[in-house]
Amino acid sequence: MNEKTTHRLEYRPYSFEVSETQLEFDLRDGETVVQSVLSIVRKPGTTDSLVLDGVGLDLRRIAIDGVALRGNEYSVDDRSLEIFDVGERCRVEVTVAIRPEDNKALEGLYKSRSMYCTQCEAEGFRHITYYPDRPDVLSRFTTGITADAERFPVLLSNGNRTAAGPTQDGRYRATWHDPFPKPAYLFALVAGDLAVLEDEFVTRSGRNVALRIYSEPHNIGQCDFPMAVLKRAMRWDEERFGREYDLDVFMIVAVEDFNHGAMENKGLNIFNTSAILAHKDTATDDRFTFVESVVAHEYFHNWSGNRVTCRDWFQLSLKEGFTVYRDQEFSADMNSPELKRIDDVASLRSDQFPEDSGPLAHPVRPDSYVEISNFYTGTVYKKGAEVVRMIATLLGRERFRAGCDAYFDRHDGSAVTIEDFVKAMEDTSGLDLSLFRRWYAQAGTPILSVRERRSDEALELAIRQTCEPTPDQPTKQPLPIPLALGVVSDGQETLGAAGIENGFDVSCETAAEVQNPDAGGTVVLRADQPETIVSFRNLPANAEVSLLRGFSAPLKVDYPRRPGALGELALNDPDQFARWDAAQTLLGNAILDAGSGGGNVADEALAMVRALAKAALAAPDDGVAKALIAASLALPNESWLLELVPGTDILAIFDARRALTDQIADAVDWLSLVEANPTGAYRPDLRDMARRRLRHQALRYALNHLDRTDPARAHELTTSLMTDADNLTDRAAALRGIVGLSSLNAEEKGKHLDTFYRDWSHEALVVDVWFNVQAQNPLPGGLDRVRALEQHEAFNPTNPNKVRALVSAFANGNPRNFHDGDGAYRWLGEKIVEIDVFNRNLAARLAKTLIVWRRHDAPRGLAMRGTLEWIRDHELSPDTGEVVDKGLA
Ligand code: PHE
Ligand code: ZN
Repeated sequence: MNEKTTHRLEYRPYSFEVSETQLEFDLRDGETVVQSVLSIVRKPGTTDSLVLDGVGLDLRRIAIDGVALRGNEYSVDDRSLEIFDVGERCRVEVTVAIRPEDNKALEGLYKSRSMYCTQCEAEGFRHITYYPDRPDVLSRFTTGITADAERFPVLLSNGNRTAAGPTQDGRYRATWHDPFPKPAYLFALVAGDLAVLEDEFVTRSGRNVALRIYSEPHNIGQCDFPMAVLKRAMRWDEERFGREYDLDVFMIVAVEDFNHGAMENKGLNIFNTSAILAHKDTATDDRFTFVESVVAHEYFHNWSGNRVTCRDWFQLSLKEGFTVYRDQEFSADMNSPELKRIDDVASLRSDQFPEDSGPLAHPVRPDSYVEISNFYTGTVYKKGAEVVRMIATLLGRERFRAGCDAYFDRHDGSAVTIEDFVKAMEDTSGLDLSLFRRWYAQAGTPILSVRERRSDEALELAIRQTCEPTPDQPTKQPLPIPLALGVVSDGQETLGAAGIENGFDVSCETAAEVQNPDAGGTVVLRADQPETIVSFRNLPANAEVSLLRGFSAPLKVDYPRRPGALGELALNDPDQFARWDAAQTLLGNAILDAGSGGGNVADEALAMVRALAKAALAAPDDGVAKALIAASLALPNESWLLELVPGTDILAIFDARRALTDQIADAVDWLSLVEANPTGAYRPDLRDMARRRLRHQALRYALNHLDRTDPARAHELTTSLMTDADNLTDRAAALRGIVGLSSLNAEEKGKHLDTFYRDWSHEALVVDVWFNVQAQNPLPGGLDRVRALEQHEAFNPTNPNKVRALVSAFANGNPRNFHDGDGAYRWLGEKIVEIDVFNRNLAARLAKTLIVWRRHDAPRGLAMRGTLEWIRDHELSPDTGEVVDKGLA
């Protein structure tokens, strides 16, 4: 692969402005004709020719100010169109033909089932027509769409509809105008026979906004929940960030074939059905939660992304990190902040941390890329959000809000950089963030090594920060770390007002800044040296330090504790994040120590689990307590554990994890906890979700126990759970339970699976769950089962949701089978090569599964690497090529 690398420091502004963009689409089977008129103004002092991006286009006509160009006045190659002699100001007219029906890459204009739709971020617009396809060229778009009146009665684009009606030849045409200048990546078009759910929203300044969610008619009954979420998000953004919506209409369209979750096109968001449809029979509790966050996320982009956009794609986290932070805060406010934080950190650890220690590790603001689509990553999104969160922590709520206001005011209507964001924060707060900027520039997860020294009168913590080298960054600089900590003794907060009265006291010579304990007893230090010493005086002997409260910075912590400390914190730490983290650490230690024969850690873990289970029986139905306990009772996953002990045989981790699961399953009467938490009529509210989360966590342990001790009962129980279920959350839990029983034969399981499929084959998203449950089944024979499912009538490799439900679910969610021998690696390699031919985005993401080979033990690592080499011997897209090349470098 010798694809061109783009470097951040090579940014050059475009030499032209495009004041207006007029587009005319004539949608026809087999060939769609796109005419464009760009009003071009040359920027002062420039002399270069006009270069427009374009890929896979059939150029039909090109003219300037109405005069067709001669062959020697322009040149075209497979990626651009160059017009040599362009004056100060002109109208460039281009006509191209494209074939959306053949577009399985799902970028540009394509067909999903019976509807036409677009996906332009990051560089999809160049597949529609010749254009300066870069985020710093902003233009006012007017779009005409003509199509068959019967098959495409709904014609949508950005902005407000300005006209619609039949054409002379009996077709149907609509025009749209978007008054807000925008880059081409925010352009969207939809045409179809769609149903609509309508509502309205009155902004705080009193403007009426029509809200419309469109879907294929059979899905429209699943749009009430997202509509309610949308209205809450619009209100919240006004209240929390002072941001109001700006057009007369806000539309969302649900599309079945989509590479990502959703897209924030101006006024016309396009969603994967999996990120919008939510109904008790087609979405689990987790899915409802996900839909809530994505609807809010895309809406919030209207300001953080659309009104203020990115100068170039290296600034992607400017909109994505910030917008993830905003949607996290929204979900926290709508639900339980503690639980939200726990779930977000768990996903950061299992998705982003491995990326940050692997061959594709990159800074939140990358320095170079071959294909920008490979950089829609956990690092840019989730670590980017963590970096914004740290700024918010350092500034405090009010100064952070002032910084956001300044950022939006200063840059409304323009394309800016991460530096502009940080500068706005700095200017309004007076805080010096010069060192802090390293968080954007340096890749890798810092490790905090903490050692305790206790004496009669003092407890001292020696805290060292280090960071492993990452590609292109062999040495690392210390980062300023906001470190939130507290002290717990006798199950009580020890610092804080009461603590000070009692003469306890914290000091730290090395930290740049130490805030006094807040009323809750949390201290925040800014540790910006390689080593920080914190001393506490006059603490009770049984005091334990509660570190990294609320996960105040995205770090790995290595903190050997004295026996009993983690159990104490896991049960009593008033900071719910730190409490969960202590439980996870203890459970992880019990799994990873299993080989070393020391039974003490396992005993401590089991004692904690018994205490948690007891607390669970007494926990109130307040929508939080039960879910928090359930989260603490879930064992850390293999991917995160491998991250802690790289080089370990992942199947040994799996076995140890399984052994601990068995012990936990036998240690408590989980069935009574299941029975104590019945599910009533389904409601996707906090209280019921918390109860179901606990119920299903307990059920997993109960079934594990029965599977080994009373198989008949296990089968009976799962069967009745399946029969009684009135919603997908319960139904999927029952199906997962059935499929996971080692005591049940394949034939019996097959009957249950067939019944489930027969009942739900008309609901694509439920069929995805059906695939997913089977793909993740850890019992032996996984690869054969997945191969058989590939032949199933419902499997379709051109639909990304299906590929995720079967292929990714197996490769990323079934370590026991995926890493059993090298057959599955090779199988995945074949999928990647096959899919790369028509959908490079999907293939490149699948390839990321294999590049972490260095994390694994030698035989496995070599086998994974061998598969990467095998893939590299094929003709690959630049996307997949970049992933594979970097994976092998
Ligand atoms: N910008 C989309 C989001 O909000 C993600 C996306 C990227 C969608 C590229 C499609 C293509 O997060
Ligand atoms: Zn986004």
